[in-house]
Amino acid sequence: MSRRRFCLKQVSLLLGTCLVAVSLCLTAAQPSDEIARLAKAMGWTPGQTVADIGAGEGEYAFAASALVGENGKIYATELDGKKLQTIKEEVAKRALKNVIVLQAAERDTNLPANCCDAIYLRRVYHHLTAPLEIDACLLRNLKPGGLLAIIDFPPRKWLTETSPVKGVPKNRGGHGIPQKILVDELTTAGFSLQQTFDDWPDDDYCVIFRKPPAPAN
Ligand SMILES: C[S@@+](CC[C@H](N)C(=O)[O-])C[C@H]1O[C@@H](n2cnc3c(N)ncnc32)[C@H](O)[C@@H]1O
Repeated sequence: MSRRRFCLKQVSLLLGTCLVAVSLCLTAAQPSDEIARLAKAMGWTPGQTVADIGAGEGEYAFAASALVGENGKIYATELDGKKLQTIKEEVAKRALKNVIVLQAAERDTNLPANCCDAIYLRRVYHHLTAPLEIDACLLRNLKPGGLLAIIDFPPRKWLTETSPVKGVPKNRGGHGIPQKILVDELTTAGFSLQQTFDDWPDDDYCVIFRKPPAPAN
């Protein structure tokens, strides 16, 4: 192949990759749209307390903070110290008064008991190395009758090959988690299954559970 044809092929490959990247960015759901859908599905109301477990860099927690309003509260937790620091800096920069940033532990959410009306984990459950301990915490952290949402995805081949998840139970079957496994784990922990959405943005699913209400006297 001539040098010129080789260069042209390289340039068209590069352009193709850029086009795919741009179209993925353009079609990806915005955190505020996804959180608005989650809030509707879980019935959040202003003044409620909601926790984002494994909040990453905080974009979803910040979107949630606008929905619960100034009388509500968002707990944003993270295991990774660097991400936790990023969330703290961003909370200060945006002057968000209703976001509490909390260091999570591998086996403990570190949230108070009965503190939350709703809790969600977005793309976090399949990273949990001690899921049964965290499930027990989530049940304690919710108020009686409170709701838990797990947004996740089934194992993805390319992610499993490029970025395997370390330390998680072997039954996940790769990077991701089959929906049935997390439903089995959370119902065994004491939650009841409420609703599933298989059309969540970016090929994720969303499963909503309820903590049993307090027994009537
Ligand atoms: C794929 S990221 C998702 C981040 C964010 N939820 C999002 O949707 O953009 C998974 C996050 O879970 C966090 N994580 C893993 N185990 C955790 C645990 N036990 N408690 C809290 N966060 C955890 C990781 O540090 C990482 O930031």
